[in-house]
Amino acid sequence: MKRRMAFAIFGVLLLAGAHCQPSRAETGYEGWLRYAPLDATESQKYDALPAAAVLLGNSPVLESAQAEFIRGVRGLLGRTLRAQQTLPEENAIVLGTMDKVRNAFPELREPAGLGSDGYWLTTEISHGFDCIVVTGKTDRGVLYGVFALLSRISRDESVFALDEVQQPSAPLRWVNEWDNLDGSIERGYAGKSIFFENGSVRADLTRAADYARLLSSVGINGCVINNVNADPRALDVGFLPQLARIADAFRPWGVKLALSVDLSSPKTVGGLDTFDPLDPRVMEWWKQKVNAIYQQIPDFGGFVVKADSEGRPGPSSYGRTPADAANAIAGALQPHGGFLFYRAFVYDHHLDWTNLKNDRARAAYDIFHPLDGKFDDNVILQIKYGPIDFQVREPVSPLFGGLQKTNEAIELQITQEYTGQQRHLCFLVPMWKESLDFDLRANGNSSPVKELISGKTFHRSAGGYVGVANVGMDASWLGHPLAMANLYGFGRLAWNPDLTAQAIAEEWTRLTFGNDPQVVQTIDAMQLASWHIYEDYTGPLGVGTLTNILGSHYGPGVESSERNGWGQWHRGDHDGIGMDRTVATGTGYVSQYSPPVAKLYESVNATPDQLLLFFHHVPYTHVLHSGKTVIQYVYDAHYQGAELAANYVLQWQSLKGRVDDQRYMEVLARLEYQAGHAIVWRDAVCNWFFRVSGIPDAKGRVGHYPGRVEAESMKLQGYVATDVVPPEDASGGKAVICPNQLQKCEVSYEFNGTPGWYEVDVEYFDLASGQSKFRVLIGDQEMDEWTADAQLPGMKLSADSSIRRRIAGLALRPGDEIRIEGVPDGDERAPLDYVEFKPPQK
Ligand code: GCU
Repeated sequence: MKRRMAFAIFGVLLLAGAHCQPSRAETGYEGWLRYAPLDATESQKYDALPAAAVLLGNSPVLESAQAEFIRGVRGLLGRTLRAQQTLPEENAIVLGTMDKVRNAFPELREPAGLGSDGYWLTTEISHGFDCIVVTGKTDRGVLYGVFALLSRISRDESVFALDEVQQPSAPLRWVNEWDNLDGSIERGYAGKSIFFENGSVRADLTRAADYARLLSSVGINGCVINNVNADPRALDVGFLPQLARIADAFRPWGVKLALSVDLSSPKTVGGLDTFDPLDPRVMEWWKQKVNAIYQQIPDFGGFVVKADSEGRPGPSSYGRTPADAANAIAGALQPHGGFLFYRAFVYDHHLDWTNLKNDRARAAYDIFHPLDGKFDDNVILQIKYGPIDFQVREPVSPLFGGLQKTNEAIELQITQEYTGQQRHLCFLVPMWKESLDFDLRANGNSSPVKELISGKTFHRSAGGYVGVANVGMDASWLGHPLAMANLYGFGRLAWNPDLTAQAIAEEWTRLTFGNDPQVVQTIDAMQLASWHIYEDYTGPLGVGTLTNILGSHYGPGVESSERNGWGQWHRGDHDGIGMDRTVATGTGYVSQYSPPVAKLYESVNATPDQLLLFFHHVPYTHVLHSGKTVIQYVYDAHYQGAELAANYVLQWQSLKGRVDDQRYMEVLARLEYQAGHAIVWRDAVCNWFFRVSGIPDAKGRVGHYPGRVEAESMKLQGYVATDVVPPEDASGGKAVICPNQLQKCEVSYEFNGTPGWYEVDVEYFDLASGQSKFRVLIGDQEMDEWTADAQLPGMKLSADSSIRRRIAGLALRPGDEIRIEGVPDGDERAPLDYVEFKPPQK
């Protein structure tokens, strides 16, 4: 008979004051696995935790589980548990797979629903001793159970009297890293590759192992280490032993190594004269290659393929289909248990933009839906959540519902390519939740995306989640310490898509910053609001992220998507904006959805406001469900978004002393930058809409900036005015630069406002090509000086490189002369945009 054990549980009174101790300096490297010491009140709760950590069985993964548990408890509670291999004559924590655990506890009955990778946290009695049992069907399950138990302790939750079975929602939970062999990372915003350097695998793979530990702690079981725009050299015979070293670093954490491959490899590195997937020599080449990989990496996960997309070679070169290509490689992987992820991100980037019926959004469904049922069982179609490309808001890709006889995985982007590149706060879990919960009504029945990709709806054998992560050598992995919530959240959702965004945010904050209620509430509130705030000032009403799509994908670039073949069009003109994708008058994209969903999107009135411009072209004067016109909504959203972004700074400042100084300062710097850049976005987008529509802001804000003085209107000594293109990238369309032949230039301005204390914002440009120096003086007294050395994208004067310096507490009187000196460096000619004088808020 199973008895519940009776560990003593101490009542805990949470005293807010008990949390107010600034902790040790931290870089963020530990992510959510800090195991920072709990305070005395919290740790009392675990006084009854047994002193022995018993591991039944052995394998690299199980050994990680035991070592991790001991490490975690040492950090959290300051106690070092005894590592044992047999049950002691005392209470114990017992780790092991079901078969081993059952030997030790013959009465233990396996709970229903425990499958591969799942875990069970329970309690048992052995010879009168109370045991906490962490078990699973597989070694990985046990490791996941250990992480879950440690997470509970870190978050001040009970670990006694548990009976919890957890099963991941889908078998495949992978990340993709877009690392190049030279050590750069495509769309990476946190330093160089942790895997590669100068064409080789790094000598020191400590970070690869630490990364696998982080991944494993949230249930991720596969990692593709190289760019989907794959370098065929990754498959060189000589390279395999190097890759095997990375697999060795991953293995103890149950993370499988996988690779991106270039479809033309049989020709480019294999020496064949073709890469036609149906040519027997090509098939044989893949088979030999795959066999060679498995010889060195027996637990190799498989490949991901990007083909016929953005210039990558593909089966179309030989008149073959994606299914032909996928199966040719999948056949080689199948005997070894490997998977072939074939990306559905296939589209023509030379579309004729003059043809209003053309539509890039149609591509994935048009290409892959007819192939449903033609893919082998170890092929997974990897589908981006929306039909375009990781925009701040898109409808769910209809392809998820269009495949019934094909395995599928959703591709989400953790690296914030279109959502602020980790310089802006944007917690993406609420967005991913919306996609995963969306009911595509495939077959007329309820079929939310999360059930389609897990294989549940159409009884598929495999499927799951892929997150494009792109961590780098930056101490905090993703650059912005708060951005790690996206990596954490991706793993948690892949494990359990029914978790709420709120629950995930809260878990992450507690693990990353501790349990101080004020810290938890403040950070959660910031994270949970951040996607909408970012959307407000960058891409409202489903129009797409209004960013510079021809360059960095970072700052505003409203026109950049138009009149070219890339197909990210919003079709904004003098009269209106939006893509007509209806069946009746547009591109017909709407027909790719099941009838109930298509009915919704076909009608302007039924389409939710937030997706209106994705589906319909409407006049700027169109009235939304909210009662506002489109144009006024655009203005209001941008002003509101920028204001809320500014408010992050105040929210974060309220945590001073409650968060360690290092992370506090790092986050503060990013939030201050974001607050400034949100204004750059606001002004650029609003000015573009005003210029193109000719409709003024009913609230009179657009084009009117109280307290702002354009640099080009100041007294210039050496500086010359220059046009910025497009004009909305600079205030007034112009900036001043210090020409080549000069070593130093100056702008000056006589202040004539009301006397008082002012906050002064200097908007300037910080290019990647130099480090200019600036000094601000009032009369002859230096008030501030700095070097333009922020790491921003952009080699020219643009909204990408526009940045603000805020100088607080300047006492100004009429007649004061404000001077700004600029000393250029290289191609960066100490460029200035404007100065804004703000009387302090009452
Ligand atoms: C985006 C991104 C590219 C990437 C591509 C992909 O377009 O900008 O850098 O290669 O997606 O997902 O393949």
